[in-house]
Amino acid sequence: MQKLGMIGWRGMVGSVLMDRMQSEGDFSFVDPYFFSTSQVGQKGPILNGKTTNDLLDAYDIDALKEMDIIITCQGGDYTNSVYKKLMESGFKGYWIDAASALRMESNAVIILDPVNKDVIDNALNSGIKTYVGGNCTVSLMLMALAGLFKQDLIEWVSSSTYQAASGAGAKNMRELLVQMGALYNCVESELKDSHSNVLDIEKKVRMCMNDDTFPTDNFTAPLAGSVLPWIDKEMENGQSKEEWKGMSETNKILGLAPATIPVDGNCVRISSLRCHSQSLTIKLKKDVAVSDIESIIKEQNDWVRVIENKKDVTLDKLTPAYVSGKLEVPIGRIRKMMMGPQYLSAFTVGDQLLWGAAEPLRRMLRLLVA
Ligand code: HSE
Repeated sequence: MQKLGMIGWRGMVGSVLMDRMQSEGDFSFVDPYFFSTSQVGQKGPILNGKTTNDLLDAYDIDALKEMDIIITCQGGDYTNSVYKKLMESGFKGYWIDAASALRMESNAVIILDPVNKDVIDNALNSGIKTYVGGNCTVSLMLMALAGLFKQDLIEWVSSSTYQAASGAGAKNMRELLVQMGALYNCVESELKDSHSNVLDIEKKVRMCMNDDTFPTDNFTAPLAGSVLPWIDKEMENGQSKEEWKGMSETNKILGLAPATIPVDGNCVRISSLRCHSQSLTIKLKKDVAVSDIESIIKEQNDWVRVIENKKDVTLDKLTPAYVSGKLEVPIGRIRKMMMGPQYLSAFTVGDQLLWGAAEPLRRMLRLLVA
């Protein structure tokens, strides 16, 4: 059996990955070894009632080199400090990574096999060993829209995102909830009094969220009761790095190099916990009937769900509250826009930690071992 090294398996994405791998029986196809950056020598996890190895040192190149496949959810700093040294040491195995550090490298493939299995197969056949999960908004947008991309119906996409706290990390999820609690606490007594004035309540909340003591260490600004229209670094062209990834990663996943399909829009953090949503404006290459568009979308993969453009079902099935923790990727609000018959509007929601992070990694493993 091939030896699998697991790194970063206790963090948030790593924990979701472990859970999915156990649910799908992935560990029965490999001989797993667990590594740690901080708790070397401590007990490994128990899998199917069996103890695993004591934790190996995630910085030990000789130990890593013994592996046939490595999956890391440890983050970009770890990748940057280990990957090059491991490759220079003569590592012959496969490197599967959740971090963005290597995504745009020419010897790396961005993995989203329901959408780009052909790209992955070609890479495997040509000896590529580095496979990297995509940016979550890009992967989720493609899970929803791949049918239209693959039929070459899309001239461009403008995606306005509504991104969950989980995309910023576990600490940010906690901070969002602490912020929500702080806002509630500051007006708890007024809320219990049904005769209190709502504008007085709003004023107190506003003062609370703008007070220096409001907890913003991680987001650097209030998110509860607000939105944050900047995600990731500043680029010189005025985009945020998150917005830049939209076009570069979409085209790379689809195997379009150089990038030919423009993808751009505003990326915004909202107070969802673990589901990203996106409002999409799509310019089609030709006028296609909405019923045909819906068929093309839903036939592309087993996880996309077309939600009828009706209020009840939209509020029931096209929200982070419904989609969190699920692998299905609903897309709804599909309609032609007032700009003309080639302009399509749609809204999609997907779990940031599943298809947006962990799921493509474990599926890549299965392509290698099953
Ligand atoms: N950059 C994403 C976010 C994380 O901040 O939501 C997933 O790639």
